Amino acid sequence: MRNKIAVIGSGFVGATLAQRIAEKNLGDVVLLDIVDGIAQGKALDMYESAALEKFSSKVTGTTSYDDIQDADIVAVTAGLARKPGMTREDLLLKNAQIIGGVCKEIADKAPNCIIIMVTNPLDIMAQLALAVTKFSPKKIIGMAGALDSARMCAFIAMELDVSPVDINAMVLGGHGDSMVPLPRYTTVSGIPITELMDTETIEKINNRTRKGGAEIVKLLQSGSAYYAPSAGAAQMIESILTDSKRIIPCSVMLNGQFGLKDVFIGVPVKLGRNGVCDIIDLTLRDNEKSALDQSANVVKENFKKIMRSI
Ligand code: APR
Repeated sequence: MRNKIAVIGSGFVGATLAQRIAEKNLGDVVLLDIVDGIAQGKALDMYESAALEKFSSKVTGTTSYDDIQDADIVAVTAGLARKPGMTREDLLLKNAQIIGGVCKEIADKAPNCIIIMVTNPLDIMAQLALAVTKFSPKKIIGMAGALDSARMCAFIAMELDVSPVDINAMVLGGHGDSMVPLPRYTTVSGIPITELMDTETIEKINNRTRKGGAEIVKLLQSGSAYYAPSAGAAQMIESILTDSKRIIPCSVMLNGQFGLKDVFIGVPVKLGRNGVCDIIDLTLRDNEKSALDQSANVVKENFKKIMRSI
């Protein structure tokens, strides 16, 4: 039996994610969009590349949730993207309405799937998905840390003139300006970056990582990042479907880990076939812990706001 991966929303992030999944031969992909023609057109175009790119994944497009029936994974990328000057929180209410509706359909048509939430503001949308679907918290995972860590790797690679492949970065917290890059858990071929760069340079990289999404939004002038976000989601999906048990920072529901409860926040997670296999609870320093707490408070407050309004 081949894996079935549904991608809800066939815009920049959704379509690029579908392409990455197909080209990695992870399973058959169903692209869905609310606008008729977009998903079908992109899916057909993508499948027409199969002979050239050498993949066997089927790629189909649809507007009907009937076609996501029994998907193993559903990646949610539907909604509005950030425009210049907009924070992720500005997107909050609009995307909450969209994601609330999408998640009802997922719970109905693919009740055993694992949801990978990509739509922003990410942590809050993941928490909303849990509230709407009532799935096990092990099956709802937000894509944030994979992207934020990859961005940090890119900036370190630029600074040190080394390959990003050898860099392992760790970014925790909410996917927003309050994220928490952890330089002491960030290494180049096992060497902590604190051995390779001074504090001022590391702080500059941390700040650029925190504002990484906004930097792209400003350059693109319309729309937001999609190459790195889709790569982050594809890495998580691959770890789940191949039961690799990779440890990837993801946004998940905490139940006492890191001293936090009932909130989605980015932490190191072991990902396998059942979704969240384990949450790696680290001992944080006081400044790191207070940054994580602050991140969690932002998510909690905004989650309350959307639950009052939808
Ligand atoms: N159901 C299905 N699809 C929808 C719905 C809905 N209710 N509402 C909107 N869409 C579709 C749009 O028609 C569009 O094709 O979602 C797609 C969004 O695509 P883009 O506007 O290109 O946005 P994108 O860059 O892909 O970002 C999507 O991912 O990274 C996050 O912050 C980003 O929240 C944003 C999301």
